[in-house]
Amino acid sequence: MQAITALEFKQISKLLHEQCGIHLQDDQDYLVQTRLGDFVESLGLNSFSQLVARLQVEPGKLLPAVINLMTTNETLWFRDQSCWNALEKAILPELFKKVACGEEVKVWIAGCSTGQEAYSLALLIDELCQVQKKTEWVRHFSIQAMDISETALQTARLASYNTFEINRGLSLTRRTHYFEQTANNHWVLRPNIRLRVHFDTINLTRDFSHLGQFDLILCRNVTIYFTPQVRSKILSTMVSMLTPEGSLLLGATESLWHQRNSYRAIEFEGCIYVKAVCE
Ligand SMILES: C[S@@+](CC[C@H](N)C(=O)[O-])C[C@H]1O[C@@H](n2cnc3c(N)ncnc32)[C@H](O)[C@@H]1O
Repeated sequence: MQAITALEFKQISKLLHEQCGIHLQDDQDYLVQTRLGDFVESLGLNSFSQLVARLQVEPGKLLPAVINLMTTNETLWFRDQSCWNALEKAILPELFKKVACGEEVKVWIAGCSTGQEAYSLALLIDELCQVQKKTEWVRHFSIQAMDISETALQTARLASYNTFEINRGLSLTRRTHYFEQTANNHWVLRPNIRLRVHFDTINLTRDFSHLGQFDLILCRNVTIYFTPQVRSKILSTMVSMLTPEGSLLLGATESLWHQRNSYRAIEFEGCIYVKAVCE
């Protein structure tokens, strides 16, 4: 297998940028080499040029695999404590008021990876319903979680995590309460929470406004891999998809500061999130 050349790196970077928004820095040829090298060999090819040629002939077959390998699916339970604190103490209490009035609440997790973020939210909603002795309220929350990576979505749908994955950010109390241990030392989320989340494929660099309006959107640690232009387009579309008073939570480094007229930024105990501006 030949090492990737500058031209091959340029071609693959261009393809990734066009197909899924991922923006590789000029010195990230090693990333393509390490993540796609074995895949190229498994196809019986011996250079990245051959992969580029095959991608042009049969993109439908090979592109999803390339995207799976090139996306970074790093995630964990209750990632970024200040965000979960804001959800628990400020954002979800507002949404519970809607539920108390008989309304449905729509939540969208964009770039959900292997499911931990979406299930963390489902767990938190379940716990808050129990505290309020309103267990039936969980049914008023619709949680959709989406990602471009089919491999990540497969894990998310199974909701089965190994010891390393389960221990990243999940308390022993929650693990005991919500998971069952399997014979092969995996932890499987109980169906009452697992079935609350609906997973689907999405490419955030294509138009997604048809998904409708949401009371809460989480898109955290996803647009960091995109150019500022792509990020800005995605985030402004998301703002336009918020219901009046709906909230958008981003990762700590994914700010929207230049779009101030369409939203207001709320700071809650160290977490900054965005609320739609009512017309
Ligand atoms: C680093 S993970 C973040 C997961 C989770 N949001 C969190 O904060 O823990 C980024 C996810 O974004 C997904 N992603 C990357 N490009 C995407 C695109 N164009 N459309 C949808 N999802 C994408 C990746 O597959 C990956 O699972």
